[in-house]
Amino acid sequence: MSTELDALRQKCKSCRGCSLCETRTNTVFGVGNPNARLMFVGEAPGEQEDLRGIPFVGKAGQLLDRFLYAVDIPREEVYIANVLKCRPPSNRDPLPEEEDACIGYLREQVRLIRPQMIVCLGRIAAMRLIKPDFRITAEHGKWFQKGSYLMTAVYHPAALLRDPRKKEEMLEDMKMIRDRLREFAPLAENS
Ligand code: URA
Repeated sequence: MSTELDALRQKCKSCRGCSLCETRTNTVFGVGNPNARLMFVGEAPGEQEDLRGIPFVGKAGQLLDRFLYAVDIPREEVYIANVLKCRPPSNRDPLPEEEDACIGYLREQVRLIRPQMIVCLGRIAAMRLIKPDFRITAEHGKWFQKGSYLMTAVYHPAALLRDPRKKEEMLEDMKMIRDRLREFAPLAENS
């Protein structure tokens, strides 16, 4: 299965599906356990991610790592990807046509990894994956069953950097995610 994921990564690397290919340094496909039961989906790569080709390695990513650590979820056990695989200039919001051009990669990643739970990091991912009118302030931490996937959304770590008062709610949401995951089975790989 990870062979198929590798093939998809290679395809993504040379993607010219939208104009972001002109300005990217690297595509940022995804990182983590190809058998993960828990998958996080962010918005789009930022500067550090574009430079390194790995999602969530900048300041927001470091904060995400701290939350994972705080609730005892090893980063190596989860899979992390974004809606967009290329950085929008100046970190602007993704354009609808960019999301449409790119979303097939994420769909394939989800199909190959088959996580039990998908956690959207922030409003943009939640609007794309859960429902178009998702309101992050009112609906973070709520569960949605979408086909065979249990989904929720939490604040984007970059939003927590801008407004640290939201960190308490983030911690509660992350604990809830951990507990729900443990209801499925103790944290371990899919077989
Ligand atoms: N923000 C995102 O949404 N994704 C990243 O990979 C980094 C920052």
